[in-house]
Amino acid sequence: MPQVLDQQSVQTRNLIGGDWVGAASGEEFDILDPATDEIIARVPRCGRSETRDAIDAAAKAFPEWSRTTAQERGKLLRRLYELMMRDQDRLAELMTREQGKPLAEAKGEVAYGASFLEWAADEGRRMYGETIPANFPDKRILVLRQPVGVTACITPWNFPIAMITRKLGPALACGNTMVVKPAEDTPLSAIAVAELAVEAGFPPGVFNIVTGNPKEIGEELFANPAVRKISFTGSTEVGKMLIKQSAQNVTRLSLELGGHAPFIVFDDADVDAAVKGAIASKYRNMGQTCICANRFYVQDGVYDAFASKLADEVNRMKVGRGLEDGVQVGPLINDAAVEKVEKHVADATSKGGRVRTGGERISVDGLADRFYAPTVIDDFTPEMLINTEETFGPVAPLRRFAKEEEAIAWANDSIYGLASYFYTRDASRIMRVAEALEYGIIGANDGGPSTAQAPFGGIKQSGYGREGGKYVMDEYTEIKYVSWQL
Ligand code: SIN
Repeated sequence: MPQVLDQQSVQTRNLIGGDWVGAASGEEFDILDPATDEIIARVPRCGRSETRDAIDAAAKAFPEWSRTTAQERGKLLRRLYELMMRDQDRLAELMTREQGKPLAEAKGEVAYGASFLEWAADEGRRMYGETIPANFPDKRILVLRQPVGVTACITPWNFPIAMITRKLGPALACGNTMVVKPAEDTPLSAIAVAELAVEAGFPPGVFNIVTGNPKEIGEELFANPAVRKISFTGSTEVGKMLIKQSAQNVTRLSLELGGHAPFIVFDDADVDAAVKGAIASKYRNMGQTCICANRFYVQDGVYDAFASKLADEVNRMKVGRGLEDGVQVGPLINDAAVEKVEKHVADATSKGGRVRTGGERISVDGLADRFYAPTVIDDFTPEMLINTEETFGPVAPLRRFAKEEEAIAWANDSIYGLASYFYTRDASRIMRVAEALEYGIIGANDGGPSTAQAPFGGIKQSGYGREGGKYVMDEYTEIKYVSWQL
């Protein structure tokens, strides 16, 4: 039976071939509220055999699902979008309980997550093929686009819904079936979406969900030749391992990996807008996003104004349990996350960085010791850990610069290439800097570039493949060339 989260009944089992099932061994693992350390539910600890079942179910469902029309698939995806919006408050509360982010952000994520389904519902109709003029009068060249087959996704805890729907929507819209492996910390939101998919009327096996042992589940997904495509969002370290694993069956991959976003503020920027953008980019989800600003380069003329306005805003942010009214900064996901932030701040201060505000854990009455004060640090230098490693916490390190070329060189001096930001009022500089930055996503006077209709993804060690917009459809289709002798 579904288990109980306070008074609310939530589904905790896995969805495989249309059935709600537990692990064959009966084993389960705890899901904790990071703000309180309470066990809020227990979910199945599945492994290889259940993953195989899910792949088999997806393979069985594929022939019929792939023959449905794009309109039929679009209708179901739109229905799922509507159900998610109907249940926005319930889903958001569940997400805040298991992930910690402030309720307003969780509600935003439900809408953001649902928007990928809405987008895919329409975009699926535009999976156009092509005809190409042939070399001979009695030949025709056709290019067909067909679904890949059984697909899978492995998703992170920082966006428990949106990172799934961003992959699921286009995969299903193109006629593929999918096995979803949600993060161990946050499977409840994912299971809740699977429950809504059943209500929407998706046929059994089209959308399957398996929780549990990441190593075993991942190994089966890569070892099983029925799985044709895997999309992963997570760290660069794990991404590199998956690239190796994908060699077994030459499984297609999309990888959205780590980032280390620079945020440049030029002398001619609107400083208030830059501060607003910095807050949105840096402190969303307590700084636990792959695209959040990790390094701030601020030109001499506006450095003092930007730093003091940013610190003022940061000081006003309410820290506490995400479920409480007005909270903007919740707990970090686990103890290791807080320890990493502490390590980065201690390293920065030991190398000459000055804490302008924050710089320590905050204890919040009766809650777990997992809250870190939103922080601003002056004078960070390239020798500091914070300059090269993702902090994944609410820390903004600032560095002065004098010349545009200097800021661009520092910004590009990274193994990562996911997102970058800059603020300026000079239109020609916007184009020049956007072209010079080696990043897949550029926020030009914009601290929040993510949206369903735009391509999202990185270059260098931030991965390959794109999610969002028309581009994601390429990830979930095969191109087939037909040479037709008349
Ligand atoms: C991420 O952190 O990878 C996702 C952020 C977003 O979609 O805006």
